[in-house]
Amino acid sequence: MTDPSRRAMLRTATAVAATIAAPLVVRAQGPMVIKFSHVVASDTPKGKGADYFKKLAEEKTAGKVKVEIYPNSTLFKDGEEMEALSLGSVQLLAPSVAKFGPLGVREFEVFDLPYIFDSFTELHRVTDGESGKTLFAKLESKGITGLAFWDNGFKQFSANKPLHEPTDCRGLKMRIQSSKVLDAQIRALGAIPQVMAFSEVYQALQTGVVDGTENPPSNMFTQKMHEVQKHMIMSDHGVIEYAVITNKKFWSGLPADIRTALETAMKEATRYANSIAKLENDQALEKIKASGRTTVYVPTAQEKANWRKTLLKVHKEMEGRIGRDTIQAVYKEVNFKA
Ligand code: LMR
Repeated sequence: MTDPSRRAMLRTATAVAATIAAPLVVRAQGPMVIKFSHVVASDTPKGKGADYFKKLAEEKTAGKVKVEIYPNSTLFKDGEEMEALSLGSVQLLAPSVAKFGPLGVREFEVFDLPYIFDSFTELHRVTDGESGKTLFAKLESKGITGLAFWDNGFKQFSANKPLHEPTDCRGLKMRIQSSKVLDAQIRALGAIPQVMAFSEVYQALQTGVVDGTENPPSNMFTQKMHEVQKHMIMSDHGVIEYAVITNKKFWSGLPADIRTALETAMKEATRYANSIAKLENDQALEKIKASGRTTVYVPTAQEKANWRKTLLKVHKEMEGRIGRDTIQAVYKEVNFKA
């Protein structure tokens, strides 16, 4: 927890938290305010999904609810979001599933296993399937209710030197999200993993604190990382997927009509966010290419096979952490072939 203002905000939140248990009454004098914080730009799949949810939620509750969206870590950044949710100073988050390990729900890191998904179709078999439900159920004991899975897209490695073969990553400092699976993935490349809040990545790349990173094009372009990364390889080695979550007490304490309206709004916003994710990334990739700042390399079939061979080792290595059952269940849903 950093500066005094955030500490002051959380002290008030502690006081507010006590009221969360009490059933919420929609006061005649004003709408209920729901704060939705996230760490990416607004013109991204998640940013647009959140804005669309706001529009629908306010419409479907006939103004009884006001949704305040805080993009780009403007309210809470990585490492602060989950605590703020548990204290009630924010009501909705949509963190990457790679950020649930620190909460003690390591099974979510199954999504981070390299090359476990080859397409959005396979990904949806998991997020809309049994595994998705099982993972959300694991959040309940943490006081969190999972509302939906939102897509971003496939990650690509980037650096300031050409990355054609996995060995090209040797010795590079690579920024990752707070996931042990991603840590193991970077070590498997002979590189050095550095966990860092998303809001700090651009500057870290610009100053050389880290040499490279991994992102879907929409995050890379909207955070201007392409301006400080000369090379990118279309490795498609993993996904960024989000879990839209809320505070369990807050959600169960909502008046039934409000909760139903918000659930409907969330369903429609989810359909929308997932329908634009691939296009947003394709368009961002074109913008990166058009900028002339980053050389986008498409690996040969043999090079791609080398990346896969190098990174698939992580699956076995992480079995103990994620759980064999969780991995096997996903393998079955995606019909995984090593
Ligand atoms: C990251 O930290 O790289 C991503 O999780 C950011 C995001 O929310 O897409």
